[in-house]
Amino acid sequence: MIQKPSKAAGTVVYPFQVKSCSRQVAPTLEQSFDGHLQTKLNLCCALETLADSLHIGANLARGPDLLHSTSTLLRRAHSFEEQRAFPELRRTYPQDRRLLDTLTRLEGEHFEDRGYADELQEAFTEFLSTDPDAHANEFGYMLRGFFSTLRRHIAFEREHIVPKLRGLGRTHDAGDRT
Ligand SMILES: [Fe+2]
Repeated sequence: MIQKPSKAAGTVVYPFQVKSCSRQVAPTLEQSFDGHLQTKLNLCCALETLADSLHIGANLARGPDLLHSTSTLLRRAHSFEEQRAFPELRRTYPQDRRLLDTLTRLEGEHFEDRGYADELQEAFTEFLSTDPDAHANEFGYMLRGFFSTLRRHIAFEREHIVPKLRGLGRTHDAGDRT
Protein backbone atom coordinates (compact mmCIF):
# COMPACT_ATOMS: atom_id res chain seq x y z
CA MET A 1 0.00 0.00 0.00
CA ILE A 2 1.31 3.43 -0.89
CA GLN A 3 1.75 5.63 2.15
CA LYS A 4 0.55 9.18 1.81
CA PRO A 5 2.40 12.12 3.27
CA SER A 6 0.99 13.23 6.62
CA LYS A 7 0.56 16.80 7.70
CA ALA A 8 1.80 17.75 11.16
CA ALA A 9 1.69 21.34 12.38
CA GLY A 10 1.48 22.66 8.84
CA THR A 11 4.49 20.73 7.60
CA VAL A 12 4.18 17.92 5.09
CA VAL A 13 5.97 14.81 6.42
CA TYR A 14 6.86 12.18 3.86
CA PRO A 15 7.04 8.51 4.93
CA PHE A 16 10.48 8.10 3.43
CA GLN A 17 13.78 9.87 3.69
CA VAL A 18 14.52 12.41 1.01
CA LYS A 19 18.16 12.36 -0.03
CA SER A 20 19.97 15.13 -1.82
CA CYS A 21 19.80 14.67 -5.56
CA SER A 22 23.06 16.48 -6.19
CA ARG A 23 25.50 13.90 -7.54
CA GLN A 24 28.94 13.85 -6.00
CA VAL A 25 31.56 12.81 -8.47
CA ALA A 26 34.60 11.05 -7.07
CA PRO A 27 37.95 12.49 -8.12
CA THR A 28 39.88 10.71 -10.82
CA LEU A 29 42.94 8.70 -9.85
CA GLU A 30 45.02 11.36 -11.56
CA GLN A 31 43.39 14.14 -9.50
CA SER A 32 43.75 12.25 -6.22
CA PHE A 33 47.36 11.39 -6.95
CA ASP A 34 48.15 14.98 -7.87
CA GLY A 35 46.36 16.16 -4.72
CA HIS A 36 48.68 14.05 -2.58
CA LEU A 37 51.68 15.44 -4.47
CA GLN A 38 50.49 18.98 -3.78
CA THR A 39 50.08 18.21 -0.07
CA LYS A 40 53.65 16.93 0.02
CA LEU A 41 54.90 20.02 -1.82
CA ASN A 42 53.17 22.21 0.77
CA LEU A 43 54.90 20.20 3.48
CA CYS A 44 58.26 20.79 1.79
CA CYS A 45 57.60 24.56 1.84
CA ALA A 46 56.75 24.44 5.55
CA LEU A 47 59.89 22.38 6.26
CA GLU A 48 62.00 24.86 4.28
CA THR A 49 60.58 27.72 6.35
CA LEU A 50 61.55 25.82 9.49
CA ALA A 51 65.06 25.18 8.13
CA ASP A 52 65.47 28.85 7.19
CA SER A 53 64.52 30.03 10.65
CA LEU A 54 66.50 27.53 12.76
CA HIS A 55 69.46 29.84 13.24
CA ILE A 56 67.28 32.62 14.65
CA GLY A 57 65.32 30.21 16.81
CA ALA A 58 61.98 31.08 15.20
CA ASN A 59 59.18 28.57 14.60
CA LEU A 60 60.84 26.02 16.86
CA ALA A 61 57.65 25.51 18.87
CA ARG A 62 55.82 24.48 15.70
CA GLY A 63 58.53 22.02 14.73
CA PRO A 64 57.27 18.91 16.57
CA ASP A 65 53.75 19.22 15.13
CA LEU A 66 55.07 19.88 11.66
CA LEU A 67 57.40 16.90 11.74
CA HIS A 68 54.69 14.67 13.16
CA SER A 69 52.34 15.80 10.36
CA THR A 70 55.08 15.12 7.84
CA SER A 71 55.26 11.46 8.90
CA THR A 72 51.48 11.10 8.98
CA LEU A 73 50.81 12.76 5.62
CA LEU A 74 53.66 10.91 3.98
CA ARG A 75 52.22 7.58 5.12
CA ARG A 76 48.76 8.56 3.88
CA ALA A 77 50.10 9.61 0.48
CA HIS A 78 52.23 6.49 0.12
CA SER A 79 49.30 4.31 1.08
CA PHE A 80 47.22 5.86 -1.70
CA GLU A 81 50.03 5.57 -4.23
CA GLU A 82 50.95 2.00 -3.40
CA GLN A 83 47.50 0.58 -2.75
CA ARG A 84 45.42 2.46 -5.33
CA ALA A 85 47.44 4.09 -8.06
CA PHE A 86 50.38 1.73 -8.60
CA PRO A 87 48.26 -1.46 -8.72
CA GLU A 88 46.07 0.22 -11.35
CA LEU A 89 49.14 1.09 -13.39
CA ARG A 90 50.46 -2.47 -13.06
CA ARG A 91 47.12 -3.82 -14.29
CA THR A 92 46.95 -1.36 -17.18
CA TYR A 93 50.56 -1.63 -18.37
CA PRO A 94 51.60 -5.22 -17.54
CA GLN A 95 54.11 -5.32 -20.44
CA ASP A 96 55.80 -2.01 -19.69
CA ARG A 97 58.90 -3.34 -17.97
CA ARG A 98 60.39 0.13 -17.58
CA LEU A 99 57.29 1.43 -15.80
CA LEU A 100 57.08 -1.65 -13.58
CA ASP A 101 60.73 -1.21 -12.53
CA THR A 102 60.08 2.48 -11.91
CA LEU A 103 57.14 1.71 -9.61
CA THR A 104 59.28 -0.69 -7.61
CA ARG A 105 62.00 1.96 -7.33
CA LEU A 106 59.46 4.58 -6.20
CA GLU A 107 58.15 2.22 -3.52
CA GLY A 108 61.73 1.84 -2.30
CA GLU A 109 62.06 5.63 -2.13
CA HIS A 110 58.80 5.81 -0.17
CA PHE A 111 60.20 3.39 2.38
CA GLU A 112 63.39 5.41 2.74
CA ASP A 113 61.49 8.70 3.00
CA ARG A 114 59.25 7.37 5.78
CA GLY A 115 62.30 6.24 7.70
CA TYR A 116 63.96 9.62 7.13
CA ALA A 117 60.80 11.45 8.34
CA ASP A 118 60.80 9.37 11.54
CA GLU A 119 64.49 10.09 12.09
CA LEU A 120 63.82 13.80 11.68
CA GLN A 121 61.28 13.69 14.49
CA GLU A 122 63.79 12.08 16.83
CA ALA A 123 66.60 14.36 15.72
CA PHE A 124 64.46 17.44 16.30
CA THR A 125 63.63 16.36 19.83
CA GLU A 126 67.34 15.91 20.47
CA PHE A 127 68.09 19.22 18.76
CA LEU A 128 65.70 21.05 21.08
CA SER A 129 67.07 19.33 24.16
CA THR A 130 70.66 20.39 23.45
CA ASP A 131 71.89 23.80 22.36
CA PRO A 132 69.85 24.76 19.26
CA ASP A 133 72.27 27.58 18.37
CA ALA A 134 75.19 25.20 18.20
CA HIS A 135 73.38 22.57 16.14
CA ALA A 136 71.19 24.69 13.85
CA ASN A 137 73.39 24.09 10.80
CA GLU A 138 73.62 20.38 11.43
CA PHE A 139 69.88 19.87 11.81
CA GLY A 140 69.15 22.31 8.98
CA TYR A 141 71.38 20.24 6.69
CA MET A 142 69.43 17.10 7.62
CA LEU A 143 66.12 18.86 7.05
CA ARG A 144 67.17 20.23 3.66
CA GLY A 145 68.39 16.81 2.58
CA PHE A 146 64.93 15.44 3.32
CA PHE A 147 62.76 17.97 1.52
CA SER A 148 65.15 18.27 -1.43
CA THR A 149 64.92 14.51 -1.97
CA LEU A 150 61.15 14.62 -1.55
CA ARG A 151 60.82 17.43 -4.10
CA ARG A 152 62.82 15.43 -6.65
CA HIS A 153 60.57 12.41 -6.06
CA ILE A 154 57.44 14.56 -6.48
CA ALA A 155 58.77 16.20 -9.66
CA PHE A 156 59.51 12.78 -11.13
CA GLU A 157 56.04 11.43 -10.29
CA ARG A 158 54.36 14.53 -11.66
CA GLU A 159 56.25 14.18 -14.93
CA HIS A 160 56.16 10.41 -15.39
CA ILE A 161 53.38 8.91 -13.26
CA VAL A 162 50.56 11.46 -13.37
CA PRO A 163 50.25 11.32 -17.20
CA LYS A 164 50.04 7.52 -17.06
CA LEU A 165 47.08 7.78 -14.66
CA ARG A 166 45.13 9.95 -17.06
CA GLY A 167 41.89 8.27 -18.05
CA LEU A 168 42.28 5.34 -15.65
CA GLY A 169 39.03 5.97 -13.83
CA ARG A 170 37.94 7.52 -10.61
CA THR A 171 39.30 7.03 -7.13
CA HIS A 172 36.21 5.17 -5.98
CA ASP A 173 36.47 2.83 -8.97
CA ALA A 174 39.71 1.63 -7.45
CA GLY A 175 38.07 1.03 -4.09
CA ASP A 176 39.39 4.11 -2.32
CA ARG A 177 37.17 5.45 0.43
CA THR A 178 39.58 7.83 2.11
FE1 LIG B 1 55.57 8.69 -4.43
